Amino acid sequence: MKSIGSNHTVRSQNIEGYSLGLSQEHLMLEDTQAASSWMKTCNQDSLVSKTLQPKASKVNGFDLDPPKVLVVDDHAASRLTAVALLGMEGYEVIEADSGSIVVGLVRQKQPDLILLDVMMPGMDGFEVCQLLKQDEQTRLIPVIFITALNDRRSRIRGIEVGGDDFLTKPFDRVELAARVKSLVRQKRLNEDLDHAEQVLFSIAMSIESRDPNTGDHCERLVKLGQAFGEYLNLSRYQIRDLMWGGYLHDIGKVGIPDAVLLKKGKLTPEDWQIMQQHVLIGEKICQPLRSMQGVIPIIRHHHERWDGSGYPDKLKGDEIPYLAQIFQLIDIYDALTSERPYKEALTTQEALSVMLEEADSGWRNPKLMQQFAEFIRFFTKNRE
Ligand SMILES: [Fe+2]
Repeated sequence: MKSIGSNHTVRSQNIEGYSLGLSQEHLMLEDTQAASSWMKTCNQDSLVSKTLQPKASKVNGFDLDPPKVLVVDDHAASRLTAVALLGMEGYEVIEADSGSIVVGLVRQKQPDLILLDVMMPGMDGFEVCQLLKQDEQTRLIPVIFITALNDRRSRIRGIEVGGDDFLTKPFDRVELAARVKSLVRQKRLNEDLDHAEQVLFSIAMSIESRDPNTGDHCERLVKLGQAFGEYLNLSRYQIRDLMWGGYLHDIGKVGIPDAVLLKKGKLTPEDWQIMQQHVLIGEKICQPLRSMQGVIPIIRHHHERWDGSGYPDKLKGDEIPYLAQIFQLIDIYDALTSERPYKEALTTQEALSVMLEEADSGWRNPKLMQQFAEFIRFFTKNRE
């Protein structure tokens, strides 16, 4: 069988209603039966599929855009069975007959789900799944492993590499349809969440561009946050929250009027009161998103001071969330070492001595400030 890549796309009528009237016996399709019936509609040499347009405006309860499923199996009969069954359920189906082409294909076609055979020559299903789950672009795509019945070892390995579900051969049409439908639905929900996050990041970036004084402040905070987080041996999630904090800490400035945010010259006490609201507005914006819970303490508390003289809650010492303490040092350091229309950029040494003085006067966690100074010296030395 020649490699068929991605040019084999199947779309057919949704006949879910029809399947409900069939007995379990009818629904069990042997590979060969389904394959041979499918072959009747295909040109076997070129595997050019017959494409049927869905009549209904909804496919399996999904909106106009039919979910895309990638079926990866080197065994033609088994692959064609899955293709036929999914095609009948109204999915758009893409096929691949070897593991090695899957990663590229997934990036290109962005399927909603992958049905992945375990045993394949070259790259096996486990390796493929591991690669996909490590990649930020593809990690949300659910993977269903196709295994032999009672293959316990494969199931354990499948879970280890991030597989989402398992199906055994021969396929049970109802089971296949149910699992695919539920995982595709879940994936679309996750995507919406991801989109919501993206909207927040876009808002944050637009605020940065609204304030011409800050330049690439956020990008620098993200890089410095990651490096300092790694230096402090923080967990992967804490580092992620610090990096997100780089983008989102001032998102609440979206609610601050230009007259205050962009005011040239000194802010009045009333202006300051308005300006300080940005931490509360930011918290409110991010609160509904579960994925933002780790970054919210940074947003709310990045202007607290160690001696309790900061805002909004006048927290003292370790009452201030640790990530907010860390983030604050990064934020201040970057502000000091960056040029602004109203000030020159300080050198590394000058900025550190200002911050160490502030720590001595009680504004910052002294131990953390020492660690930060060590980190910056180490970081800048390694960059030279
Ligand atoms: Fe702020």
